[in-house]
Amino acid sequence: MSAPPLLVTCGLPYTNGPCHLGHLRTYVPADCYVRYMRRLGEEVVFVCGSDNHGTPIVVSAEAEGVTPRQMSEKYHGHFDSTFRRMGVVFDHFGMTDDPANHARTTAIVQELIRKGYVYSQVVHQAYCTRCKRFLPDRYVEGICPHCGASARGDECDQGCGKHLEPGEIKEPVCKVCGMKAEFRDQEHFFFRLSAFKNYLLPYLDAVRGTANAKNYAIGWIKEDLHDWCITRTLDWGVKFPGRDDLVVYVWVDAPIGYIAFTEEWAKKTGKDWKRYWCGKNRVTHFIGGDIIYHHCIFWPALLHGAGYGVPHAIVASGMLKVDDHKFSKSRGYVVWTNEDYLDRGLPADYLRYYLLAYTSHTRELNFSWNLFAERINNEVVNIFGNFVNRTLQFAHREFRGIPEGRADPAIMAEIEKTLETVERYMREYEFKSAVDAIMALAAYGNTYVQGSAPWKLVKTDKAAAAQVIYNCAQIAQAVALLIEPVMPAKAQECWAMLGYTDEVASHRIGDAARPVPAGEIPAPRPLFTRMEEEQVKMLEALLQKRVADADRKSEKIPVVSFEEFQKLDIRTGRVLSCEPVPKSNKLLKLIVDIGNEKRQIVAGMQQFYKPEEMVGKDVVVVTNLAPAKIFGVESNGMILAAGDTASLLIPLRPVEPGSKIR
Ligand code: MF3
Ligand code: ZN
Repeated sequence: MSAPPLLVTCGLPYTNGPCHLGHLRTYVPADCYVRYMRRLGEEVVFVCGSDNHGTPIVVSAEAEGVTPRQMSEKYHGHFDSTFRRMGVVFDHFGMTDDPANHARTTAIVQELIRKGYVYSQVVHQAYCTRCKRFLPDRYVEGICPHCGASARGDECDQGCGKHLEPGEIKEPVCKVCGMKAEFRDQEHFFFRLSAFKNYLLPYLDAVRGTANAKNYAIGWIKEDLHDWCITRTLDWGVKFPGRDDLVVYVWVDAPIGYIAFTEEWAKKTGKDWKRYWCGKNRVTHFIGGDIIYHHCIFWPALLHGAGYGVPHAIVASGMLKVDDHKFSKSRGYVVWTNEDYLDRGLPADYLRYYLLAYTSHTRELNFSWNLFAERINNEVVNIFGNFVNRTLQFAHREFRGIPEGRADPAIMAEIEKTLETVERYMREYEFKSAVDAIMALAAYGNTYVQGSAPWKLVKTDKAAAAQVIYNCAQIAQAVALLIEPVMPAKAQECWAMLGYTDEVASHRIGDAARPVPAGEIPAPRPLFTRMEEEQVKMLEALLQKRVADADRKSEKIPVVSFEEFQKLDIRTGRVLSCEPVPKSNKLLKLIVDIGNEKRQIVAGMQQFYKPEEMVGKDVVVVTNLAPAKIFGVESNGMILAAGDTASLLIPLRPVEPGSKIR
């Protein structure tokens, strides 16, 4: 029996913002892998689509005053065309909001319910009393219960990276209006993920792909595997069966999109999608390192629970940095695919090369314009470009093309060795090592042509010069074929320069070892242009300006006039008494002498000071702050303190209580 056909996917982009380097870090290697496996003769289907549901899209659409569907269509089109411009070509690029995915998701959820993997439970869900609604996922921000970092409703994005269940986040605040949220009870549905522990451990032990994906997932399962709430209080999404007020969590219907897109593709081409998803398969997911949990734990459990085949391989990319800073759109450490790169006329293939050759797929990749220019100039232009151009220019000038001949055994051995090395690395998802091996063959060609000096030989022994140039053309043919998955457009140009009139991508990789056809070739043009220093400086300056702008924007400190400042009445006060506020573990109630009167003030300082320690202290008080009731206790003023540990501001020299601060 032959191996099941290969299906490759990429993590679906949310339709709430444009394509950036973070997407490409996953998409370009996936596309390279697909192209390469096709060159090996494998039957490969490459599907993807846009992720339209969930709060990220609803929140962004609301902010822009459009419907989530409108916003999704806009960015769906954007991703579709941008990926093509980058040479990332899918057999199908669908939308998770399309009917096929609604239908498949409903069918899978119903099957999970039927099998007893779904149960209902009342949860304490964050609720905003001002907006009068429940606050799922990204509608709420607060503190991560695991690590204390600030977090979104469904994930600790700034800290430990853990997935958060509804109700888990501490100190929730409404993202829309900024109001402190409260918790309210609501019925939700849970997926019995914990029941899959014994299934998942051996599954993950055997799963293919990169070690980071598998090892993280195994670690997480051993630590703790809890059930997942799979419903949300939203209008936008796939309705939970039988409940008009609930949709399924976006992380349920998004991966099911992989199946739905395969169905759509199969329908278009008259194929059978079940070959890819039912039973033993070779589904290979390329994903970002931040969604390993979803793909290695949640997704296989969903599939297995519903009776589908589980993924064959999970390939997770490493972290991305820009100018040595963690990739961040809000902080300006970002490269936008169109605005910063393609629209400036830079070749897609250069960026593809950089992303594939910079480092191993699972390691941290740093992008900077200087490094980019360096790698392109030193490797692509100087090694590959130089070799092809000197070879073909010489061939064209002296022989009007490629002379008749047969490549030397030593040359063929070098090519065969490279073919084997590249195949081994590609199958291991070690794209950098594969690219390095291809470039090493071009470098070998350079050394060979330099050492053989055909430009001298041609004056004394034209036949010997012809043999050298034939050998070089043989190497150039191999490099062009091998580099196609990395730089498809440049490979095609190089292929045409060798005199071919067909598509390089229509050839098997093994054709690299076939004798390069003799005959006329077109007048060679340089294959690559260098990155110029001026341009690199300009691009780097642009990035730095964006970072500076983001810095300024994030400060958002309003300016107050002196008149406004003078409205504040700030005085020293002496603490006369101090006691904890009953039932609170944060608050202290103080009586403070502010000169002409005594004030009761409530301050959140219990964690930092013992009540008796406060008594007799001269503190600084804002006396004309509007009175407030805190925990049921009246507070008339505010005591000033600095930093996270509430370090009290104290006058340096003794002063009378009530001394004005100015
Ligand atoms: N849109 C998600 C993200 O950007 C990825 C979804 S991948 C899928 O994090 F598996 F759910 F499809
Ligand atoms: Zn609100």
